[in-house]
Amino acid sequence: MVVHHFLGYLLDGELRERHRRTVELNLQFARFPYLKRLEHFDYAAQPGLDRRLIEELATGRFLYEGRSLVFLGPPGVGKTHLGIALGVITAELGHRVYFTTAIDLARRLTKAMAENRLHRELKNLTRPKLLLIDEVGYLALDATQASLLFQVICQRYEKKGAIILTSNKAFSDWGAVFAGDPIMASAALDRLLHRCTVINIRGESYRLKEKRQAAAHWVRSEGDGKEGQP
Ligand SMILES: Nc1ncnc2c1ncn2[C@@H]1O[C@H](COP(=O)(O)OP(=O)(O)O)[C@@H](O)[C@H]1O
Ligand SMILES: [Mg+2]
Repeated sequence: MVVHHFLGYLLDGELRERHRRTVELNLQFARFPYLKRLEHFDYAAQPGLDRRLIEELATGRFLYEGRSLVFLGPPGVGKTHLGIALGVITAELGHRVYFTTAIDLARRLTKAMAENRLHRELKNLTRPKLLLIDEVGYLALDATQASLLFQVICQRYEKKGAIILTSNKAFSDWGAVFAGDPIMASAALDRLLHRCTVINIRGESYRLKEKRQAAAHWVRSEGDGKEGQP
């Protein structure tokens, strides 16, 4: 009995250690620009956002359904924060996740094409459980870059690989995102929206709001003749 417990204890420790290493490797592989967690997301600052939906996504079920999540909204409303937080959860569930921006992805694939290894590179992008493409539509893509992004979306779709995409552009403006090619844009949207959850975030930039609140506080404190706080 005691021996069994002891063995169980050792095995537990071993498994925990192995899982910890897996998560660590997954986080390295992900190439997140920084880490963000869901626990640090302030829902009160974003009252229009459906908290229950985000918490459902945090179970990771979308990964196994090969779902795409599209976060839309103006700058500073937390799209990247939520994307990375869900990516971290993916890593913690023991899966590979890969983070990139649309322009970096396009540039990397253009280079791969020039070096005759596009096929392999595209295939590699189907492997992670989750592919996160940040900032779609921020920087203009040329026709080649747009078609490369399109191919990534198609391949993930065919393999039922989950994808998270963030964009500041409404779907109606995605023609411009795809280098002014509305047919390619609608073909990409067709695939993305087939198994998709769209999260529209409106409202004000979190950074600006924090700054404004700090400034208001400072002005108030000045008026009181007290020292202003930053
Ligand atoms: N609701 C929020 N709660 C906590 N931090 C937030 C929230 N919204 C945004 N932030 C923070 O504000 C900054 C900008 O958010 P970010 O996710 O980069 O915005 P977006 O990608 O929509 O432009 C980040 O540091 C992020 O962590
Ligand atoms: Mg962002």
